[in-house]
Amino acid sequence: MIARAKITGTGMSVPDRVVRNDELASLMDTSDEWIRQRTGIEERHWIGEGESPATLAQGAARQAIADAGLEERDIDCILLSTLSAQHDFPGTSFFLQDRLDVAEVPCIDLRAQCSGFLYGLSFADSLVRTGKYERVLVVGCEVHSTGLDVSTRGRDVAVLFGDGAGAVVVEPVRDSDDPSGILDVRLHAQGRYAKKLWIEGPSSAQVPARLTHEDVDAGKIFPKMEGRFVFKHAVTRMPEVLREALEAASIKLADVDLFLFHQANLRINEYVAGQLEIPPEKLLHNIQRYGNCSAGSIPMLLAEATRGDRLREGQLVCMTAFGSGFTWASAVVRW
Ligand code: COA
Repeated sequence: MIARAKITGTGMSVPDRVVRNDELASLMDTSDEWIRQRTGIEERHWIGEGESPATLAQGAARQAIADAGLEERDIDCILLSTLSAQHDFPGTSFFLQDRLDVAEVPCIDLRAQCSGFLYGLSFADSLVRTGKYERVLVVGCEVHSTGLDVSTRGRDVAVLFGDGAGAVVVEPVRDSDDPSGILDVRLHAQGRYAKKLWIEGPSSAQVPARLTHEDVDAGKIFPKMEGRFVFKHAVTRMPEVLREALEAASIKLADVDLFLFHQANLRINEYVAGQLEIPPEKLLHNIQRYGNCSAGSIPMLLAEATRGDRLREGQLVCMTAFGSGFTWASAVVRW
């Protein structure tokens, strides 16, 4: 009998190259002060020659698999969330699989942007609880740096994003006396606002060609965002879904030991924590060092929390995200 599914290992990986705010200020009209004040970000990591989404995902996956006490060949399913696929066709997960010593296991690319890791965790939870798969690798992985408009035209978005990957292994809990595991995950989406934070091209809906030279010149290949609109929705949806997940798991907010929020903007997270009266010591951030790594942000935080002794056996952690789609999600886990 499978009582629950649980996260048995965590890992993360970022590129070596550190890009500080001052370096961005040499490329566009921005400043360290503006970026820190509005977002909390001080630096981020960008890939260099020889690095790729698959190499970052591999680094994170290897750590998570070792942390779970497993061998790579024990993994029986790969779920990888990303909005920055290594190649649109076929994605990233296949290139990750090729770098791991795993069998011909299924590879699934998931597309839920900054909520992507929690979407992946939810599907892994279902796959493991139903007995379909037993050792699912869930990865959140982004390389934003190669797709940013680093001129002043793109400064509102370019300063926010970083490259990075986080991974976990999800396995069954068979002992009914073991209280640890994924207690609940709640997922939502609202396609009405898909164009508030998106990349217009290439688009397979554009006839006769999904990308033209004119599209490239017009900057359609870069992410666009209505920042204030996104901010407003994030600070509404995050508390909403967080409360929903806690209620579904029959957990009181005050009993949660650690809150891990998607790292889009320090101000968003402080605002949400303030609304919910979450004390600052229960909230962990790493946006200062990594920027917004979209699907990578939450599993990277989780990897840091477990290694830094911020999350110990028996403790409750609540992870909450908001992002493009729009998508939003929250998970409650007993460690
Ligand atoms: N450096 C300097 N100035 C910048 C800038 C930058 N990198 N980016 C924008 N500006 C300027 C704008 O041009 C504008 O100038 P103006 O007043 O002369 O027109 C001014 O700063 C204010 O811009 P605005 O977009 O209104 O700033 P803001 O206070 O809304 O902050 C964000 C911008 C992006 C930090 C904020 O909207 C935000 O965090 N939004 C949500 C982001 C998010 O969560 N995204 C990912 C979701 S997963």
